[in-house]
Amino acid sequence: MYFNPLQAIGLLLLGRAAVAFPAESASPSANILIQASNINITSAVFSGNGCPAGSLSTSKNSDGTGLAFGFDKMEAWIGPGYTLSEKTRNCAITLTLAVRSGYTFELVSTTYHARARLPAQVKGVISSQYAFNTANTASTTQSSPAGPLQGIYTQEEVIPKSARIASACGVEKMVLQISTRMTLTASSASASGGNIEGDPPLSLATQLLQLGWSACKK
Ligand SMILES: *[C@@H]1O[C@H](CO)[C@@H](O)[C@H](O)[C@H]1NC(C)=O
Repeated sequence: MYFNPLQAIGLLLLGRAAVAFPAESASPSANILIQASNINITSAVFSGNGCPAGSLSTSKNSDGTGLAFGFDKMEAWIGPGYTLSEKTRNCAITLTLAVRSGYTFELVSTTYHARARLPAQVKGVISSQYAFNTANTASTTQSSPAGPLQGIYTQEEVIPKSARIASACGVEKMVLQISTRMTLTASSASASGGNIEGDPPLSLATQLLQLGWSACKK
C-alpha cells in the first residue's frame, strides 16, 4: 500500500495540518516562483535498523517548500531485556533531487512527529544530520521528548541561520544525505514504557524538512 506521510500527518493532527509546514521560513527572493515543480525526488535509497526495506516513504508537499519522510518501523524500546540496537534506531537516507535551474534552497527546520508512551524515568533523543554531496559541512537538528509523555509528540526544530546548508547553484542534480537517529535512555534499569497492546515507548512517524528557496545570484 502506498503510504503518504503528508496524509498521515493530516490524520495525526486531525485538521491541524497547517502545523506540518509552519509559515516561518527563510525569506525567499521576490523574483522567484516557489512551486512544487522546483524540486523532484528522483531517488531515495535508505538503510538502517530504523528503516528496513519497504518501511520508509518520501514525498514533497504541494508547494515545494518541504520534503516529508514517513517511517513505519522507527521504533525504540527500553527496559529489562532490550538490546542496545532496540534502544537506538537509525536510518540513513540518500536522496537524489532534481532542482530547478537558477534556484537554490536551504534547509530551514525539521518537524518531528512521533507517538510517545514514555514514563517519567525515560527520555528520548531524535536527531538528524544533513549534508549535500557538493559541500563538506553538515547541519543538524535534535529533539528531546521526555517522559512522562503519552500521545503525539510534534516538535519543530529550527536550524540556526548561521548553520544552514544550501543546495549548490548551477547544479540541477543534488544528492542530500539525511541520517536520523532515535535513542531512549532511562534513569532506572527497570523503567520501560509502551503499553499493554505492545506498542513501543517511542515511534517516529514522520519527519518534515522545511526548505527555504531563493534565486541564484547571476
Ligand atoms: C519535476 O517533475 C515535473 C513533472 O514531471 C516536471 O514538470 C518538472 O520540470 C520537474 N522539475 C525538475 C526541477 O526537474
